[in-house]
Amino acid sequence: MPVLDREPSKDSGDGLPKLPLPSLKDTLEMYLRCMKHLLTEEQFDKTQNVVKQFGAPGGVGELLQSKLMERRENKANWVYNYWLNDMYLNNRLALPVNSSPAMVFPKQNFRAPIDSLRFAAHLISGVLEYKTLLDARALPVDYARGQLAGTPLCMEQYYRLFTSYRLPGPESDTLVAQESSVMPEPEHIIVACKNQFFVMDVVINFRRLNERDLLTQLEKIVKMAESEEERLPPIGLLTSDGRTEWAESRSVLMRESTNRDSLDMIERCLCLVCLDDSSGPELSDTTRAMLMLHGGGVAKNGGNRWYDKPMQFVIGADGCCGVVCEHSPFEGIVLVQCTEYLLKYMIGSPSKLVRAASVSELPAPRRLRWKCTPEVHKLLTSSADKLRRLVRNLDMNVHKFYDYGKEFIKKQKMSPDAYIQVALQLAFYRCHGRLVSTYESASIRRFQEGRVDNIRSATPEALAFVKAMTDGKLSTGDTEKMEMLRGAINAQTKYTILAITGMAIDNHLLGLREIAHEMKIDKPEIFKDEAYLISNQFILSTSQVPTTVEMFCCYGPVVPNGYGACYNPQSDHIIFSVSSFRESPQTCSAEFVKCLVQGLLDMRDLCRKCNSGSKPDEQGKAQTLDTHTQTETDWQNKTPQRRSDSTNSQPTIPQVLVKTPDQANAEVQTQTSSQGEALKNGSKS
Ligand code: COA
Repeated sequence: MPVLDREPSKDSGDGLPKLPLPSLKDTLEMYLRCMKHLLTEEQFDKTQNVVKQFGAPGGVGELLQSKLMERRENKANWVYNYWLNDMYLNNRLALPVNSSPAMVFPKQNFRAPIDSLRFAAHLISGVLEYKTLLDARALPVDYARGQLAGTPLCMEQYYRLFTSYRLPGPESDTLVAQESSVMPEPEHIIVACKNQFFVMDVVINFRRLNERDLLTQLEKIVKMAESEEERLPPIGLLTSDGRTEWAESRSVLMRESTNRDSLDMIERCLCLVCLDDSSGPELSDTTRAMLMLHGGGVAKNGGNRWYDKPMQFVIGADGCCGVVCEHSPFEGIVLVQCTEYLLKYMIGSPSKLVRAASVSELPAPRRLRWKCTPEVHKLLTSSADKLRRLVRNLDMNVHKFYDYGKEFIKKQKMSPDAYIQVALQLAFYRCHGRLVSTYESASIRRFQEGRVDNIRSATPEALAFVKAMTDGKLSTGDTEKMEMLRGAINAQTKYTILAITGMAIDNHLLGLREIAHEMKIDKPEIFKDEAYLISNQFILSTSQVPTTVEMFCCYGPVVPNGYGACYNPQSDHIIFSVSSFRESPQTCSAEFVKCLVQGLLDMRDLCRKCNSGSKPDEQGKAQTLDTHTQTETDWQNKTPQRRSDSTNSQPTIPQVLVKTPDQANAEVQTQTSSQGEALKNGSKS
């Protein structure tokens, strides 16, 4: 398979501009500004000197900058490969929890085992339909929404959804790609069931299987998986291990030709469909998020996965469903667009399974065989232990904040994203009494091969505001606090614009560091400085992943003592998925959520006091309850109308809430929209 982590070719841009290269002076100034309040005075003094030296006329900074300028001339995207390696491929941590995000669907009500298979067949048929669009490169172009709306976005990430594979390596992984083809090839998906892997061809005799055929094949797989005598060890567990460990195990497996053939089938599949066993009685949002991220370990469905493959659809017999994704080929926004297409497809085209599946002439799916030496068994035990520890370690808390959503924030004439970011800073400060390096993903898809850069949300203005909100004294009046809130939001919004226009500092600093390495220059002092290490310890790792279908995204923290905080702003509520590690004595997701809720309520009260024009009942669908800080169970009980209204007769239609076009227009939730949608909705683009 061709290697995908190559430098993008010069002409892969579809007319988009190239990612700009900020000036050295601007980046160094911004770096100092971002770090000053996060360092001790002593640390900062040292850093200031180091930065001055690096940026001195005729110094190493200028040399590296000139090399980066050359690189920019020669590449479609000067940072792409540096970024991909640094962010993903060089990272040795296990993919589950640490790297792979998941989308969690609303719980499905499968009344009989066949219902989950019908759901799977319907979903796969949606995947095949989507794949046809991809193969024809016929996806309509996305256009930016929100800040600086209207520009076209790079579509390359979509074409990696079903064609790439992350191959583990001893020091660095490799992202490999299938060549796409317009003619239907003998394509297959891998179905995981009871930790067994089955090859299910989806194109037979040049014809894509229809939904009935798919159901028939799935039923055969379930039968085959039930046979105890034929059951093989849960090889998928190996993929949940650290990347270096998995690379070593893989090379052990590769000694046997049977294993080589099986690995080859998995590496070339479109995607995985994991038919999971029931996981237990409690299936709250938080539990489902955890199960999506790690499968519940070896005791549950942790071995029913293959983490290298970008798209794994999980369909639990108990209705716990979603997608878990290997992140290196694409961002969450692209994943959401694809997943929404599939769910809308399932709602819009009722299952075509008019009758029960009949006996079919189709060749039976094949079980993948593994030859397991005692060495492989030992490796499996070790991977299982590590996954068990990861499962115990994850402290997840999904909270639906129901007091207000982005409509209230817009009425304050503030950017909802910036407001939520400031609220996250306030939560962190309340919990820990300080601010820390924070990562917020900012899309740079406005540029050729653009992925993301970082919005450094822990701004000095945010620190001033959170201090004023928590100092316990009455010294700061509301008007002053409100000014500080506006200051923090303006600073955040400014940084956002900087980032989405390719002028942020993280990618640039990474580029300077990497080009020095390539030139075999001694690592410049600026990159050995303690401040640089601190600046890259993202104790708070955040991301907006909005949806127009009822589902939510979640992921784990990126450092042992950190939080992952993913949020999905809706018009009248916000879904937060907060994660941390139990082994860290410093963090606690429930406490963080408590502080977050308190901060959001305090910020609303402040806005209400200072902006008389924004009464809560002016919100579109504002809730009348004063506070909604209940647990998710309470939330579900209080808002039964939001739960699925699916009927018994159509169990394969996903139980999701899709906004009507009117609602979608009024409360644009996706950061992107297709051109077609944009025209239909009469939006800015
Ligand atoms: N007054 C009133 N409304 C405002 C406003 C203000 N001062 N500022 C913004 N708004 C509106 C916007 O016009 C927008 O309206 P729309 O919903 O009609 O489009 C809406 O509020 C949302 O804008 P905002 O909250 O500012 O954020 P955004 O949508 O521009 O998103 C980022 C900001 C950084 C999240 C976005 O640019 C981005 O990069 N997203 C990708 C993140 C990502 O990659 N996630 C996945 C990682 S795996």
